[in-house]
Amino acid sequence: MPPRFKSIETRYYEQRADLWRGLERLDRRGFLKVSLAAMGAALANGVLHYPHSFQPISIAYADTGEPFRIAYISDSHLYDKQVNDRFVRQLLRAVDDINALDPAPDFVLYGGDLAQLGQAKELELGAQILKNVKHPMRMMVGEHDWYFDLGEKWRDLFGAPTYSFDHKGVHFVVLNSVVEKDFWTQRGMSPMERMQTVAGLDNGIQSRFEVGEAQRNWLKNDLSALSSDTPLVVFSHSPLYKYYRPWNFWTDDAEQVQAILAPFHSVVVIHGHTHQLLTNRIGNINFHGMLSTAWPWPYAPEGLPALTVQMNRPNPFDPNDGLGDGYAEIHPGGLVDKVYNLWNRNPIEVSRAYMSSGGKKDVPPTPSLVSY
Ligand SMILES: [Fe+2]
Ligand SMILES: [Fe+2]
Repeated sequence: MPPRFKSIETRYYEQRADLWRGLERLDRRGFLKVSLAAMGAALANGVLHYPHSFQPISIAYADTGEPFRIAYISDSHLYDKQVNDRFVRQLLRAVDDINALDPAPDFVLYGGDLAQLGQAKELELGAQILKNVKHPMRMMVGEHDWYFDLGEKWRDLFGAPTYSFDHKGVHFVVLNSVVEKDFWTQRGMSPMERMQTVAGLDNGIQSRFEVGEAQRNWLKNDLSALSSDTPLVVFSHSPLYKYYRPWNFWTDDAEQVQAILAPFHSVVVIHGHTHQLLTNRIGNINFHGMLSTAWPWPYAPEGLPALTVQMNRPNPFDPNDGLGDGYAEIHPGGLVDKVYNLWNRNPIEVSRAYMSSGGKKDVPPTPSLVSY
């Protein structure tokens, strides 16, 4: 009997079902197989045009002492599996990239927005995939993880959203910068209505993100025992400055948080949320945005920090363009060379020298490929 005809759609859904079956039983040994199968399926569907694109670049070390590397993955926005599997494949790709980093990072920071609508299933799926990162993981929360159940499931899986730790002479702080004032009770919103309101960029109903008084007091207290020479690296989901208010690319109490950080000689803030290459320096605080693995946001129509070397406007027909992961080389003294691993473009390094010279030295190359 001749083989039964299978349409492209049937084969697509079969491969998709295979992927989900694989994910359900995912352990570290099975991970490579599943992630390769995911990429194979994506290739077969013309979704993924490029193989692994990570090109480590050599960095000249001017300092004495040992620099070390931390890596990041951010903003994966996982949906329920009935709705979307592309973002799952993209997170698998990032995990694969980070596992292949050489030299290995000391730890990997997840930059927030692991889920899309704060659903338990979305967060569990993310946690299950991130278990396959070979290096220690540190988690940060984003608004998409939080506003369905106000962080209950996220805390169950990952612990407290605000914490600090010391590593090789650097003091690291992780904040929940997406605190919002209660806009939902008075409006009688359901948890899902609240979540969807926060998930929308430009609805005018939600309040602006803030770190809030309780965390600012915690931060003051956390830093009070440190000398001003201690290098600080702070992770926040939203940028700890004011970029563009209508989209909440913004932290409402940014000036107050900056004032707490200002006495320190070396401060780097690494943030998620903006899904784009973003660079800023205010006083001696250096800010770097992280790339997303899900989608790139366009640059806001105003407020772009002058130091930002813009990434290309991505190719809308290539779902992997404008996405990526990356790492930072942390040097003695605490300043970082930030490397953006754009999946379909050359990596871009934003160096310490570029930051401290106010953009005069060591200017990152402007993208050479077409901007769409
Ligand atoms: Fe995000
Ligand atoms: Fe976000």
